[in-house]
Amino acid sequence: MSSPALPVIDRATVDRWRSAWDEVMAGFLPGTASFEEMLPTVAEAVCGGCPRRILDLGGGPGVFAERMAARWPGADVAMIDLDPVLLALAHVAAGDRIRVHRGDLAAARALPDGPYDLLTIVMTIHYLAPEQALALYRAARSVLRPGGLLIVADLMPEPGLDRVTECLQPAAGPAWVGWWDGLHAEESLRPLLDERRSVFADRVPAEFAPPADWHRSAALSAGFGQAGVVWRWGAHAALAAVA
Ligand SMILES: C[S@@+](CC[C@H](N)C(=O)[O-])C[C@H]1O[C@@H](n2cnc3c(N)ncnc32)[C@H](O)[C@@H]1O
Repeated sequence: MSSPALPVIDRATVDRWRSAWDEVMAGFLPGTASFEEMLPTVAEAVCGGCPRRILDLGGGPGVFAERMAARWPGADVAMIDLDPVLLALAHVAAGDRIRVHRGDLAAARALPDGPYDLLTIVMTIHYLAPEQALALYRAARSVLRPGGLLIVADLMPEPGLDRVTECLQPAAGPAWVGWWDGLHAEESLRPLLDERRSVFADRVPAEFAPPADWHRSAALSAGFGQAGVVWRWGAHAALAAVA
C-alpha cells in the first residue's frame, strides 16, 4: 500500500472530471440516490451512532468517500484503489480530509489496518474473480471491529435475470468510454494514464456478478455474524454484513 502520485492539475479541472464521473456512475448504479439515502440509516443503526472510522474500497476518484465525510464530519474517512489516475483525482480533491491509499483488493493483504466501523465497496467487487471476492470478505471481516458494518453494493441479479448486460443502463458503457477518452486530453495526466495502462494490462475485470445469496453466503463463511440485502433497485442490490 502506498500514497498516489500527484499530477499538476488544478482543482477546478479535477472537480469537473469528478462531477462527470458521478454522472457516469449513476448509469452503472441506477437508484444511487436511494442507495445513499439508505446507507446512513443502516450504518447509524448498526454502529450505534456515527461511524468513526470508515474505509471505502475501490473508491475511484473519491466521490462517494467525500459524501460520507460530509455526512459524518467527525469521522476518519479513508479510501483505497488501484488506479493511479483515479487516485490522483481523489487525492487532489480530498486534501487532508480523506486518506487516499493505493492498494490492490485482489492481493493477499489487501486492506490497511483497522479496526473500522464501516467498510463500503460500491460497484467494485465485480472486478474480482470469485476466490478473490471471497478472500476480500475475509479481509474485510478481519479489519472491522466487532459489530462493525460492511456494505457491498453491486449488480446482484435475481435468478431469471442472469445476463449481466441486460441489467445495465444502455448508455452506461459509452458514457464510461467517453469519460476516459476525454481524460486523455488532459496533458498533465498523461504519465498517470500511461501507468494506468500498464497496471491494468493484465487485469481484465472478472465481471463476476452472482445473486445476492452468493454474497450472503460469502459473508457468513468469512465470519460475519449476520448478512442480508438492505437495498434493491432492479438487478442492483446492497448487502449489509455485521461483523
Ligand atoms: C466502477 S468503479 C467504482 C468506483 C467507486 N466505488 C464509485 O462508485 O464511484 C470500480 C473501481 O474499482 C477499482 N478497482 C478495480 N479493481 C481493483 C483492485 N484489484 N484493487 C483496487 N481497486 C480496484 C477501479 O480502479 C475503480 O475505481
